[in-house]
Amino acid sequence: MQYHSPNQMQNQNRPLKQPHRILLGITGGIAAYKIPALVRLIMKAGSECEVIMTDSSAKFAAPMAIETLSGRKVWTDSGFDHTIPHIRLTQWAEVIVIAPCSANTLAKIAHGMADNLLTSAVLASSCPVLVFPAMNERMYSSPATQSNIKTLRERGIMVIEPESGALACGDDGKGRMPEPNEIMHEIFRALCVHDMAGKNVTVTAGATHEYLDPVRYISNPSSGKMGVAMARSAWYRGANVRLIAGESVSADMYGFDVVRIVSADDMLREVMADIERADYIVKAAAVGDYRAKEYHERKIKREGRDAITLELVRNPDIAAEVGKLKREGQVLIGFAAETDNVAGNAREKLLRKNLDYILANDVTAEGSGFGVDTNTLRLISRDKPEEIFSGLKEDIAFQVWDHVI
Ligand code: PMT
Repeated sequence: MQYHSPNQMQNQNRPLKQPHRILLGITGGIAAYKIPALVRLIMKAGSECEVIMTDSSAKFAAPMAIETLSGRKVWTDSGFDHTIPHIRLTQWAEVIVIAPCSANTLAKIAHGMADNLLTSAVLASSCPVLVFPAMNERMYSSPATQSNIKTLRERGIMVIEPESGALACGDDGKGRMPEPNEIMHEIFRALCVHDMAGKNVTVTAGATHEYLDPVRYISNPSSGKMGVAMARSAWYRGANVRLIAGESVSADMYGFDVVRIVSADDMLREVMADIERADYIVKAAAVGDYRAKEYHERKIKREGRDAITLELVRNPDIAAEVGKLKREGQVLIGFAAETDNVAGNAREKLLRKNLDYILANDVTAEGSGFGVDTNTLRLISRDKPEEIFSGLKEDIAFQVWDHVI
């Protein structure tokens, strides 16, 4: 779904970590105890946060704690003194987030009721509204709640599925509110223009591991941060993202369909499984070019050996294999980790592997390449002028997509 609120049109493609104006509604549910942590994350991201609490939510989260963290007075129904703050608040907000959203509030907003400050604000809003239902599983799966969710979605309200797990009532099932960092990802996604909606993106990230025996391997220092940044920004822009991640990737992968792999052969198999489906394939992973010819089932012993010789054989070149099969309209983006003749080597790889774009990465430069949060990349294509991006990997990734799409 593409959102075109006036606020969002102004915000098109601006860096995500700029301040945003978030109107947070809290309703009565045990998950409200997590909301101070969410407010903290919103403030840490440099955004502003106005909070409306329903009367019952104040039994689960202390308004004073939220006021202290947000630096603003919390709006409640008892303070609703006919100065019609809901109109001013909705005009101010870029996005309204209701977390947790009880079955009761969900039903009220589905039916256009406006019997408290929060439901009045939702009724008066024209910005994106993001709802996080959290309740007992039986209440969540009831025909009434499911019908209300359907109604809200038909109106363009984003309803995020609760997670499964142990519930406060002792039951086990679907009904848990996502964690605050996951809610932050959903907020950023809601704030982005979904110019990649409906697109399928496959990203490879991290290092491959070529095991010699059960305890030793050949690998490289890739953390997967660059690949995850490419995946994250595509997801924020509305794409469906499949992340094929090596063992070294420990970044937050919320929202992606994640496939874990170990070796280059595993990665080849998973990328090939996606070749029909993917509109964009991003090869940010650092793939080992060689593996041991022989794998030892038991640990190689050092006793009695001053030196050993390993015979290595070539791994498949995954990007080149994809390049051979690439179909009309499919876009293949590679990276090139280089130590010398950076642009020249990258351009040679672009042509040899039949890529559409390559991001040349001088891994010897300060604050660039493996493991760090920042990078400097040169975007090279066959026919467009070169671009250089420098900064946080997540910001660079956003800019790369600006150019590619
Ligand atoms: O993961 P980080 O810690 O954030 O670090 C980021 C990074 C340095 C790993 C990343 O920016 C990067 O440069 N990735 C590509 C690393 C690499 O393998 O470069 P290459 O020049 O060896 O390979 C060129 C392209 O072919 C790459 O897209 C690579 O994924 C692909 N390739 C390489 C070898 C192989 N056998 N199969 C491949 O598909």
